[in-house]
Amino acid sequence: MAPVRTTGAVVAAIAVSVALFSLFLCNHKSKPSSKKTKLSLPSKKNTRTGLVDAIGNTPLIRINSLSDATGCEILGKCEFLNPGGSVKDRVAVKIIEEALESGKLAPGGVVTEGSAGSTAISLATVAPAYGCKCHVVIPDDAAIEKSQILEALGATVERVRPVSITHRDHFVNIARRRASEANELASKDLESGQMNGKDLEQINGFGSGGEKHTSFSLSNCKGGFFADQFENLANFRAHYDGTGPEIWEQTGGKLDAFVAAAGTGGTVAGVSKYLQEMNPKIRSFLVDPPGSGLFNKVTRGVMYTKEEAEGRRLKNPFDTVTEGIGINRLTQNFLMAKLDGAFRGTDIEAVEMSRFLLKNDGLFLGSSSAMNCVGAVRVAQSIGPGHTIVTILCDSGMRHLSKFYSDEYLSQFGLTPKANGLEFLGVQ
Ligand SMILES: Cc1ncc(COP(=O)(O)O)c(C=O)c1O
Repeated sequence: MAPVRTTGAVVAAIAVSVALFSLFLCNHKSKPSSKKTKLSLPSKKNTRTGLVDAIGNTPLIRINSLSDATGCEILGKCEFLNPGGSVKDRVAVKIIEEALESGKLAPGGVVTEGSAGSTAISLATVAPAYGCKCHVVIPDDAAIEKSQILEALGATVERVRPVSITHRDHFVNIARRRASEANELASKDLESGQMNGKDLEQINGFGSGGEKHTSFSLSNCKGGFFADQFENLANFRAHYDGTGPEIWEQTGGKLDAFVAAAGTGGTVAGVSKYLQEMNPKIRSFLVDPPGSGLFNKVTRGVMYTKEEAEGRRLKNPFDTVTEGIGINRLTQNFLMAKLDGAFRGTDIEAVEMSRFLLKNDGLFLGSSSAMNCVGAVRVAQSIGPGHTIVTILCDSGMRHLSKFYSDEYLSQFGLTPKANGLEFLGVQ
C-alpha cells in the first residue's frame, strides 16, 4: 500500500506544481510589465463617471471591406466616438491634468491654444470639467464654423490676421502670450486683492447664471497655461499611456503593424513607442500627405520636399486637402516616434478611400482617417496577407462637409472621386 500512497502523493504534488506553474505563466502573459498594468484599460462597469471618464477606451473595429480586399485584418480605432468628436480629447485631458498637477494651471485658470482644429474643440469641451476656461486664437481665414463651434462650447475666440510662424503675431505666438498675460494679471489681482468670488464663478465663458460672455477678460481668471500641443509631451503621453495600451489589450498583443499620419506627431509617437516596447517585432509606419516633409525625414533622414525645393509652396501650408496632418518641422512629440518606414499618400487616394469606406462599410470619416486607411492598405501590400494592421479613425466626416465632402470644392482641385473599388491603390 505504501508505494501506492507514495505514488498518489507524488501525482498530487505534480498536479499542484503544474497548476501553480500554469497560473504563473498566465499571470506573466497577461502582465507583460508591471509598469503598463496600472493604465486605464477598457472597464467592465456600465456607468462612466463624468465627461472625462467617457474619453478613451474607444472600440477597435475590423474594417471589413479593407480586410477582405487585402487578406490582412485591418482594424480601426474609433476615436471619432470620443465626446469631443476626435482623438484630441485624450490630449486635452492629459495636457490639462498634467498642468493642474504641476501647479502651472490653477482651477479657474484659462488654457490657451493657437489652433483652428480638433485640439481647440477638445480643449474647449474638456476645460469646464476641470473648472477651467479655454481661450483659442485662430487665423481669421479659418472657416467661420470653427469659431462658432468653439464659442458655442463656451470658449473665447480671437480671430487674427494670418502671418508666418516666425512673426510674433502668428496665432500660436499670440496664444502663448495670452497665457503669460493672464498669469501677470492674476498675480497683480492677487496682490491688489481685486479678485472676488463673483469672478471665480465664471467658468469657460459662462457666468454663474448661465449667461454667455462673448468678450474674454484675462483678468477674470486665475492665471493662464499655454497648451502647446506640438511641443508639450503630455500629448505623446496621452497616447503612450492610453491609445497604445488599449490597442495592445484589444488585440491581445496579436498585431503586426501600426500606421498613422502625423500632425503634431503625438499619436504616432505614443502608440509606436508603446507597441515597440511591448513587442519589438511590431512594426510602425507613417503615412504622409502631400507637401509634408516627414516622409523624407523617416526614409532619408532629411526634411526636404520637392515643392519647397522648387519654391512653389502654395498659400495652403501643406498643399493638401487633408486636415490636421503633415508638417515641415520636427516637433518634440514626433521625435519620440519609433518608426520602421513611411508611405506617401495622395489627396485623391484619401478622397477615394473616404467614399469607398462610406459605400462599403458605412464609415463616415474625416480626411486624416481616410489617409490612415490608405496607409493601412499600403502596409498590407508591403508586408503581405495574413497580418493584423491597426490604424486610427481620428474624427468623423461631420467636420469636413464644406471641403472634403463637398463635390464643388473637390472639383476645383481635380479631386472628384471616380473609383468603383480600390483600384486607385492597385487593388483589384
Ligand atoms: C483630425 C486630426 N487627425 C489627425 C491629427 C494628427 O494627430 P497628431 O497630432 O497626434 O499627429 C490631427 C492633429 O491635429 C487632427 O486634428
